[in-house]
Amino acid sequence: MKTQVAIIGAGPAGLCLARMLSLHGIHSIILERQTRAYVEARVRAGMLEQGMVELMRRAGVASRLDKEGLVHSGFKLIFDNQISHIDLASLTGGKQMVIYGQTELTKDLYDSVLADSNIQVFFGAQEVCPSGFLEEKPRVSFYYQNTAYTLSCDYLAGCDGYHGVTRAAIPKSCLREYERTYPFGWLGLLSDTPPLDEEAIYIHHQRGFALCSMRSRTRSRYYLQVPLSEQVSDWSDQDFWDELRRRLPASLADSLITGPSFEKSIAPLRSFVVEPLRFGSLFLVGDAGHIVPPTGAKGLNLAASDVHYLSTALIAWYQEGRSDLLDRYSATALHRIWAAVRFSWWFTSVTHKFSDDPIEQKIQLAELDYLLQSTAGQTTIAENYVGLDLAEDFV
Ligand code: APR
Ligand code: PHB
Repeated sequence: MKTQVAIIGAGPAGLCLARMLSLHGIHSIILERQTRAYVEARVRAGMLEQGMVELMRRAGVASRLDKEGLVHSGFKLIFDNQISHIDLASLTGGKQMVIYGQTELTKDLYDSVLADSNIQVFFGAQEVCPSGFLEEKPRVSFYYQNTAYTLSCDYLAGCDGYHGVTRAAIPKSCLREYERTYPFGWLGLLSDTPPLDEEAIYIHHQRGFALCSMRSRTRSRYYLQVPLSEQVSDWSDQDFWDELRRRLPASLADSLITGPSFEKSIAPLRSFVVEPLRFGSLFLVGDAGHIVPPTGAKGLNLAASDVHYLSTALIAWYQEGRSDLLDRYSATALHRIWAAVRFSWWFTSVTHKFSDDPIEQKIQLAELDYLLQSTAGQTTIAENYVGLDLAEDFV
Protein backbone atom coordinates (compact mmCIF):
# COMPACT_ATOMS: atom_id res chain seq x y z
CA MET A 1 0.00 0.00 0.00
CA LYS A 2 1.33 3.48 -0.74
CA THR A 3 0.42 7.15 -0.53
CA GLN A 4 2.10 10.54 -0.70
CA VAL A 5 1.41 11.63 2.89
CA ALA A 6 0.60 9.13 5.66
CA ILE A 7 -1.39 10.79 8.43
CA ILE A 8 -1.64 9.13 11.84
CA GLY A 9 -4.73 10.22 13.79
CA ALA A 10 -8.12 11.37 12.52
CA GLY A 11 -8.76 14.19 15.00
CA PRO A 12 -9.27 17.75 13.76
CA ALA A 13 -5.57 18.11 12.85
CA GLY A 14 -5.31 14.95 10.72
CA LEU A 15 -8.67 15.46 9.00
CA CYS A 16 -8.05 19.10 8.18
CA LEU A 17 -4.54 18.41 6.89
CA ALA A 18 -5.84 15.66 4.58
CA ARG A 19 -8.45 18.04 3.15
CA MET A 20 -5.97 20.86 2.52
CA LEU A 21 -3.62 18.46 0.73
CA SER A 22 -6.41 16.92 -1.34
CA LEU A 23 -7.49 20.33 -2.64
CA HIS A 24 -4.03 20.47 -4.27
CA GLY A 25 -4.21 16.94 -5.65
CA ILE A 26 -2.05 15.36 -2.93
CA HIS A 27 -3.10 11.85 -1.84
CA SER A 28 -3.12 10.85 1.80
CA ILE A 29 -4.05 7.86 3.92
CA ILE A 30 -5.23 8.40 7.50
CA LEU A 31 -4.75 5.69 10.12
CA GLU A 32 -7.05 6.10 13.12
CA ARG A 33 -7.05 3.77 16.11
CA GLN A 34 -10.66 4.45 17.12
CA THR A 35 -14.00 4.24 15.30
CA ARG A 36 -15.59 7.26 13.65
CA ALA A 37 -18.39 7.26 16.25
CA TYR A 38 -15.87 7.30 19.11
CA VAL A 39 -13.90 10.25 17.71
CA GLU A 40 -17.07 12.20 16.92
CA ALA A 41 -18.45 11.76 20.40
CA ARG A 42 -15.38 13.14 22.20
CA VAL A 43 -16.43 16.38 23.85
CA ARG A 44 -13.79 19.08 23.68
CA ALA A 45 -13.72 22.87 23.42
CA GLY A 46 -15.34 24.90 20.69
CA MET A 47 -14.04 28.46 20.65
CA LEU A 48 -12.60 29.11 17.19
CA GLU A 49 -10.28 31.92 16.17
CA GLN A 50 -11.03 33.64 12.89
CA GLY A 51 -7.91 32.04 11.38
CA MET A 52 -9.31 28.57 12.14
CA VAL A 53 -12.66 29.52 10.60
CA GLU A 54 -10.84 30.72 7.48
CA LEU A 55 -8.88 27.45 7.30
CA MET A 56 -12.15 25.51 7.47
CA ARG A 57 -13.52 27.67 4.67
CA ARG A 58 -10.45 27.03 2.53
CA ALA A 59 -10.81 23.31 3.28
CA GLY A 60 -14.39 23.55 1.94
CA VAL A 61 -15.99 22.41 5.20
CA ALA A 62 -17.43 25.61 6.66
CA SER A 63 -20.99 25.77 5.31
CA ARG A 64 -22.64 24.59 8.57
CA LEU A 65 -20.07 26.44 10.69
CA ASP A 66 -20.91 29.69 8.85
CA LYS A 67 -24.63 29.08 9.41
CA GLU A 68 -24.69 27.76 12.95
CA GLY A 69 -21.54 29.19 14.58
CA LEU A 70 -22.18 31.87 17.20
CA VAL A 71 -20.03 34.95 16.61
CA HIS A 72 -18.60 36.40 19.83
CA SER A 73 -17.15 39.87 19.77
CA GLY A 74 -16.14 39.82 23.42
CA PHE A 75 -16.03 37.87 26.67
CA LYS A 76 -16.50 38.66 30.36
CA LEU A 77 -14.09 38.31 33.22
CA ILE A 78 -15.35 38.36 36.81
CA PHE A 79 -13.07 38.97 39.76
CA ASP A 80 -13.87 40.40 43.18
CA ASN A 81 -17.53 39.91 42.18
CA GLN A 82 -17.14 42.67 39.56
CA ILE A 83 -17.94 41.96 35.91
CA SER A 84 -15.47 43.33 33.34
CA HIS A 85 -16.00 43.15 29.61
CA ILE A 86 -13.22 42.51 27.11
CA ASP A 87 -14.45 43.95 23.84
CA LEU A 88 -12.38 41.79 21.49
CA ALA A 89 -13.63 43.41 18.30
CA SER A 90 -12.94 47.00 19.25
CA LEU A 91 -9.57 46.17 20.85
CA THR A 92 -8.27 44.15 17.90
CA GLY A 93 -9.55 45.99 14.85
CA GLY A 94 -12.66 43.86 14.40
CA LYS A 95 -11.47 40.34 15.22
CA GLN A 96 -14.00 37.98 16.74
CA MET A 97 -14.31 34.39 17.92
CA VAL A 98 -16.82 31.78 16.77
CA ILE A 99 -18.42 29.19 19.04
CA TYR A 100 -18.87 25.89 17.23
CA GLY A 101 -18.43 22.61 19.10
CA GLN A 102 -15.48 20.42 18.14
CA THR A 103 -17.89 17.50 17.83
CA GLU A 104 -19.76 19.37 15.08
CA LEU A 105 -16.52 20.43 13.41
CA THR A 106 -15.31 16.82 13.42
CA LYS A 107 -18.60 15.62 11.86
CA ASP A 108 -18.28 18.17 9.05
CA LEU A 109 -14.66 17.17 8.45
CA TYR A 110 -15.58 13.46 8.32
CA ASP A 111 -18.38 14.10 5.83
CA SER A 112 -15.99 15.82 3.46
CA VAL A 113 -12.97 13.56 4.03
CA LEU A 114 -14.96 10.35 3.51
CA ALA A 115 -16.37 11.68 0.23
CA ASP A 116 -12.91 12.69 -1.03
CA SER A 117 -11.26 10.32 -3.50
CA ASN A 118 -7.78 11.66 -2.61
CA ILE A 119 -8.16 10.52 0.99
CA GLN A 120 -8.49 7.01 2.41
CA VAL A 121 -9.26 6.50 6.11
CA PHE A 122 -8.69 3.30 8.09
CA PHE A 123 -10.68 3.38 11.31
CA GLY A 124 -9.74 0.86 13.98
CA ALA A 125 -6.12 0.63 12.74
CA GLN A 126 -4.15 -1.26 15.42
CA GLU A 127 -0.46 -1.40 16.37
CA VAL A 128 0.33 1.54 14.13
CA CYS A 129 4.12 1.69 13.93
CA PRO A 130 5.87 4.38 11.87
CA SER A 131 9.55 3.94 10.92
CA GLY A 132 12.28 4.81 8.40
CA PHE A 133 12.06 8.59 8.93
CA LEU A 134 15.64 9.10 7.72
CA GLU A 135 15.29 6.74 4.74
CA GLU A 136 14.07 7.63 1.28
CA LYS A 137 10.66 6.04 1.84
CA PRO A 138 9.35 6.01 5.39
CA ARG A 139 6.65 3.46 6.21
CA VAL A 140 3.95 2.62 8.67
CA SER A 141 3.02 -0.91 9.61
CA PHE A 142 -0.39 -1.58 11.12
CA TYR A 143 -3.17 -4.12 11.51
CA TYR A 144 -6.58 -3.56 10.00
CA GLN A 145 -9.31 -6.13 10.61
CA ASN A 146 -6.65 -8.61 11.78
CA THR A 147 -4.57 -8.33 8.60
CA ALA A 148 -1.05 -6.82 8.66
CA TYR A 149 -0.30 -3.98 6.22
CA THR A 150 2.70 -1.81 5.41
CA LEU A 151 2.08 1.66 4.06
CA SER A 152 4.90 3.34 2.16
CA CYS A 153 4.88 7.14 1.81
CA ASP A 154 6.93 10.28 1.08
CA TYR A 155 6.06 12.08 4.32
CA LEU A 156 4.39 11.28 7.61
CA ALA A 157 2.22 13.60 9.69
CA GLY A 158 1.91 12.75 13.38
CA CYS A 159 -1.59 14.02 14.19
CA ASP A 160 -2.17 11.42 16.90
CA GLY A 161 -2.51 13.63 19.96
CA TYR A 162 -0.56 13.74 23.19
CA HIS A 163 -0.73 9.97 23.80
CA GLY A 164 0.05 8.97 20.21
CA VAL A 165 2.83 6.82 18.75
CA THR A 166 4.58 9.25 16.43
CA ARG A 167 6.34 11.44 19.00
CA ALA A 168 7.31 8.27 20.89
CA ALA A 169 8.88 6.86 17.69
CA ILE A 170 11.48 9.66 17.55
CA PRO A 171 14.77 8.88 19.39
CA LYS A 172 14.64 10.62 22.80
CA SER A 173 18.06 12.18 22.21
CA CYS A 174 16.67 14.10 19.21
CA LEU A 175 13.84 15.82 21.11
CA ARG A 176 13.58 18.28 23.95
CA GLU A 177 10.38 18.23 25.99
CA TYR A 178 9.11 21.12 28.11
CA GLU A 179 6.30 20.36 30.53
CA ARG A 180 4.31 21.88 33.36
CA THR A 181 1.43 20.14 35.07
CA TYR A 182 -1.09 21.97 37.24
CA PRO A 183 -2.40 20.76 40.60
CA PHE A 184 -6.05 20.86 39.48
CA GLY A 185 -8.37 19.91 36.64
CA TRP A 186 -11.53 21.20 34.99
CA LEU A 187 -14.78 19.42 35.68
CA GLY A 188 -16.91 20.08 32.58
CA LEU A 189 -20.68 19.70 32.23
CA LEU A 190 -22.90 19.87 29.14
CA SER A 191 -26.63 20.48 29.42
CA ASP A 192 -29.46 21.40 27.12
CA THR A 193 -30.19 24.63 28.93
CA PRO A 194 -29.91 28.20 27.63
CA PRO A 195 -26.46 29.73 28.27
CA LEU A 196 -26.10 32.05 31.25
CA ASP A 197 -24.98 34.91 29.01
CA GLU A 198 -24.52 35.54 25.32
CA GLU A 199 -20.74 35.65 25.87
CA ALA A 200 -18.30 33.34 27.65
CA ILE A 201 -17.70 34.31 31.29
CA TYR A 202 -14.37 33.52 33.03
CA ILE A 203 -14.62 33.69 36.82
CA HIS A 204 -11.84 34.17 39.36
CA HIS A 205 -13.18 33.10 42.76
CA GLN A 206 -11.67 32.27 46.11
CA ARG A 207 -13.29 28.80 45.89
CA GLY A 208 -11.64 28.24 42.49
CA PHE A 209 -12.01 29.19 38.84
CA ALA A 210 -15.23 28.69 36.85
CA LEU A 211 -16.15 29.18 33.20
CA CYS A 212 -19.61 29.61 31.66
CA SER A 213 -19.59 28.83 27.96
CA MET A 214 -21.96 27.35 25.41
CA ARG A 215 -22.36 25.27 22.29
CA SER A 216 -25.52 26.92 20.94
CA ARG A 217 -28.38 29.09 22.13
CA THR A 218 -29.92 26.06 23.77
CA ARG A 219 -26.85 24.12 24.91
CA SER A 220 -24.50 25.24 27.70
CA ARG A 221 -21.00 24.19 28.67
CA TYR A 222 -19.79 24.95 32.21
CA TYR A 223 -16.51 24.20 33.95
CA LEU A 224 -15.35 24.21 37.58
CA GLN A 225 -11.78 24.07 38.79
CA VAL A 226 -11.50 20.94 40.96
CA PRO A 227 -8.60 19.20 42.75
CA LEU A 228 -7.04 16.39 40.70
CA SER A 229 -8.04 13.96 43.42
CA GLU A 230 -11.75 14.40 42.57
CA GLN A 231 -13.68 11.82 40.52
CA VAL A 232 -16.60 12.64 38.22
CA SER A 233 -18.68 10.23 40.29
CA ASP A 234 -18.12 12.52 43.32
CA TRP A 235 -20.22 15.18 41.58
CA SER A 236 -23.98 14.91 41.16
CA ASP A 237 -25.55 17.47 38.82
CA GLN A 238 -26.98 19.20 41.87
CA ASP A 239 -23.50 19.44 43.47
CA PHE A 240 -22.18 20.97 40.25
CA TRP A 241 -24.92 23.60 39.96
CA ASP A 242 -24.67 24.47 43.66
CA GLU A 243 -20.91 24.96 43.42
CA LEU A 244 -21.19 27.00 40.22
CA ARG A 245 -23.76 29.29 41.90
CA ARG A 246 -21.36 29.81 44.82
CA ARG A 247 -18.68 31.05 42.41
CA LEU A 248 -21.02 33.47 40.58
CA PRO A 249 -22.06 36.96 41.69
CA ALA A 250 -25.59 36.84 43.15
CA SER A 251 -27.24 38.52 40.16
CA LEU A 252 -25.88 35.86 37.77
CA ALA A 253 -26.41 32.96 40.17
CA ASP A 254 -30.09 33.90 40.28
CA SER A 255 -30.45 33.82 36.51
CA LEU A 256 -28.59 30.50 35.97
CA ILE A 257 -30.93 27.97 34.37
CA THR A 258 -30.01 24.41 35.32
CA GLY A 259 -31.06 21.04 34.00
CA PRO A 260 -29.84 17.47 33.71
CA SER A 261 -26.32 17.05 32.34
CA PHE A 262 -25.64 14.73 29.41
CA GLU A 263 -21.86 14.78 29.76
CA LYS A 264 -19.54 15.31 32.71
CA SER A 265 -15.80 14.77 32.70
CA ILE A 266 -12.61 15.95 34.39
CA ALA A 267 -9.66 17.10 32.27
CA PRO A 268 -6.22 17.66 33.80
CA LEU A 269 -4.38 20.85 32.82
CA ARG A 270 -0.96 20.72 31.21
CA SER A 271 1.49 22.92 29.31
CA PHE A 272 3.71 20.80 27.05
CA VAL A 273 5.91 21.47 24.03
CA VAL A 274 8.32 19.25 22.17
CA GLU A 275 11.11 20.66 20.00
CA PRO A 276 11.68 20.32 17.13
CA LEU A 277 8.43 19.31 15.43
CA ARG A 278 10.28 17.47 12.67
CA PHE A 279 12.43 14.36 12.54
CA GLY A 280 13.45 13.52 8.95
CA SER A 281 10.25 12.90 7.02
CA LEU A 282 8.02 12.95 10.14
CA PHE A 283 6.22 16.15 11.16
CA LEU A 284 4.34 16.54 14.45
CA VAL A 285 1.07 18.47 14.27
CA GLY A 286 -1.45 19.57 16.93
CA ASP A 287 -1.63 17.87 20.33
CA ALA A 288 1.11 15.39 19.31
CA GLY A 289 3.57 18.27 19.62
CA HIS A 290 2.05 20.58 22.22
CA ILE A 291 -0.66 20.90 24.86
CA VAL A 292 -1.96 24.04 26.52
CA PRO A 293 -4.37 24.41 29.43
CA PRO A 294 -7.85 25.23 28.05
CA THR A 295 -8.09 28.62 29.74
CA GLY A 296 -7.12 30.55 26.61
CA ALA A 297 -9.13 28.24 24.27
CA LYS A 298 -6.00 27.72 22.19
CA GLY A 299 -5.61 23.91 21.74
CA LEU A 300 -7.74 23.46 18.64
CA ASN A 301 -6.66 26.81 17.20
CA LEU A 302 -2.98 25.89 17.47
CA ALA A 303 -3.66 22.61 15.68
CA ALA A 304 -5.19 24.71 12.88
CA SER A 305 -2.13 26.95 12.56
CA ASP A 306 0.15 23.89 12.43
CA VAL A 307 -2.05 22.46 9.66
CA HIS A 308 -1.88 25.75 7.79
CA TYR A 309 1.94 25.76 7.91
CA LEU A 310 2.45 22.07 7.13
CA SER A 311 -0.07 21.97 4.29
CA THR A 312 1.48 25.11 2.76
CA ALA A 313 4.95 23.50 3.00
CA LEU A 314 3.88 20.15 1.53
CA ILE A 315 2.00 21.84 -1.30
CA ALA A 316 5.12 23.93 -2.11
CA TRP A 317 7.13 20.70 -2.19
CA TYR A 318 4.76 18.75 -4.44
CA GLN A 319 3.92 21.65 -6.78
CA GLU A 320 7.24 23.48 -7.02
CA GLY A 321 9.83 21.03 -5.62
CA ARG A 322 10.65 23.54 -2.88
CA SER A 323 11.88 22.14 0.45
CA ASP A 324 12.54 25.47 2.21
CA LEU A 325 9.10 25.66 3.80
CA LEU A 326 9.34 22.06 5.05
CA ASP A 327 12.69 23.02 6.58
CA ARG A 328 11.11 26.04 8.30
CA TYR A 329 7.90 24.31 9.46
CA SER A 330 9.10 23.48 12.97
CA ALA A 331 10.58 26.89 13.84
CA THR A 332 7.66 28.81 12.31
CA ALA A 333 4.97 26.73 14.00
CA LEU A 334 6.82 26.81 17.34
CA HIS A 335 6.97 30.60 17.32
CA ARG A 336 3.18 30.81 17.45
CA ILE A 337 2.91 27.80 19.76
CA TRP A 338 5.17 29.37 22.41
CA ALA A 339 3.15 32.59 22.29
CA ALA A 340 -0.04 30.60 22.96
CA VAL A 341 1.68 28.50 25.63
CA ARG A 342 2.66 31.71 27.40
CA PHE A 343 -0.82 33.22 27.14
CA SER A 344 -2.61 30.04 28.26
CA TRP A 345 -0.21 29.66 31.21
CA TRP A 346 -0.63 33.32 32.18
CA PHE A 347 -4.43 33.32 31.90
CA THR A 348 -4.51 30.14 33.99
CA SER A 349 -2.14 31.62 36.59
CA VAL A 350 -4.22 34.75 37.23
CA THR A 351 -7.65 33.11 37.24
CA HIS A 352 -7.14 29.83 39.16
CA LYS A 353 -6.63 29.07 42.82
CA PHE A 354 -3.20 27.51 43.37
CA SER A 355 -3.01 27.56 47.17
CA ASP A 356 -4.72 28.76 50.32
CA ASP A 357 -2.08 31.44 50.82
CA PRO A 358 -4.12 34.70 50.94
CA ILE A 359 -1.28 36.74 49.40
CA GLU A 360 -1.66 34.76 46.17
CA GLN A 361 -5.26 35.85 45.72
CA LYS A 362 -4.46 39.49 46.53
CA ILE A 363 -1.69 39.54 43.92
CA GLN A 364 -3.94 37.92 41.28
CA LEU A 365 -6.65 40.49 41.97
CA ALA A 366 -4.17 43.38 41.81
CA GLU A 367 -2.87 42.13 38.46
CA LEU A 368 -6.33 41.67 36.96
CA ASP A 369 -7.45 45.03 38.31
CA TYR A 370 -4.41 46.79 36.84
CA LEU A 371 -4.77 45.16 33.43
CA LEU A 372 -8.51 45.67 33.17
CA GLN A 373 -8.44 49.37 34.04
CA SER A 374 -5.84 50.01 31.31
CA THR A 375 -6.61 49.98 27.59
CA ALA A 376 -3.11 48.65 26.98
CA GLY A 377 -3.77 45.82 29.44
CA GLN A 378 -7.10 44.93 27.86
CA THR A 379 -5.55 45.07 24.40
CA THR A 380 -2.80 42.63 25.28
CA ILE A 381 -5.40 40.16 26.61
CA ALA A 382 -7.64 40.65 23.57
CA GLU A 383 -4.84 40.30 21.00
CA ASN A 384 -3.72 37.02 22.48
CA TYR A 385 -7.26 35.71 22.95
CA VAL A 386 -8.29 36.23 19.31
CA GLY A 387 -5.01 34.59 18.21
CA LEU A 388 -1.76 36.11 17.04
CA ASP A 389 -1.19 36.57 13.33
CA LEU A 390 0.31 33.80 11.21
CA ALA A 391 3.82 34.33 9.84
CA GLU A 392 3.39 36.37 6.67
CA ASP A 393 6.66 35.27 5.10
CA PHE A 394 5.66 31.57 5.07
CA VAL A 395 4.69 31.46 1.41
N1 APR B 1 -2.75 5.06 16.15
C1 APR B 1 -3.72 5.70 15.41
N2 APR B 1 -4.40 6.77 15.86
C2 APR B 1 -4.09 7.23 17.07
C3 APR B 1 -3.09 6.66 17.87
C4 APR B 1 -2.42 5.53 17.37
N3 APR B 1 -1.49 4.90 18.10
N4 APR B 1 -3.01 7.35 19.02
C5 APR B 1 -3.92 8.33 18.96
N5 APR B 1 -4.58 8.26 17.78
C6 APR B 1 -5.70 9.12 17.34
C7 APR B 1 -6.71 9.38 18.44
O1 APR B 1 -7.65 8.32 18.55
C8 APR B 1 -7.36 10.67 17.97
O2 APR B 1 -8.50 10.45 17.17
O3 APR B 1 -5.21 10.40 17.01
C9 APR B 1 -6.27 11.35 17.13
C10 APR B 1 -5.74 12.59 17.79
O4 APR B 1 -6.75 13.55 17.85
P1 APR B 1 -6.81 14.71 18.95
O5 APR B 1 -6.41 14.17 20.27
O6 APR B 1 -8.13 15.37 18.82
O7 APR B 1 -5.61 15.68 18.50
P2 APR B 1 -5.55 16.82 17.39
O8 APR B 1 -6.18 16.39 16.12
O9 APR B 1 -4.14 17.30 17.39
O10 APR B 1 -6.50 17.90 18.03
C11 APR B 1 -6.14 19.19 18.27
O11 APR B 1 -8.39 19.35 19.14
O12 APR B 1 -9.12 17.37 20.08
C12 APR B 1 -8.65 18.64 20.36
O13 APR B 1 -7.58 18.62 22.49
C13 APR B 1 -7.38 18.61 21.11
O14 APR B 1 -7.45 20.88 21.25
C14 APR B 1 -6.79 19.84 20.62
C15 APR B 1 -7.12 19.87 19.17
C1 PHB C 1 -15.68 25.78 25.75
O1 PHB C 1 -16.70 26.31 25.29
O2 PHB C 1 -15.61 24.56 25.92
C2 PHB C 1 -14.53 26.62 26.14
C3 PHB C 1 -14.59 27.99 25.92
C4 PHB C 1 -13.52 28.78 26.27
C5 PHB C 1 -12.40 28.20 26.85
C6 PHB C 1 -12.33 26.83 27.05
C7 PHB C 1 -13.40 26.03 26.69
O3 PHB C 1 -11.36 28.97 27.22
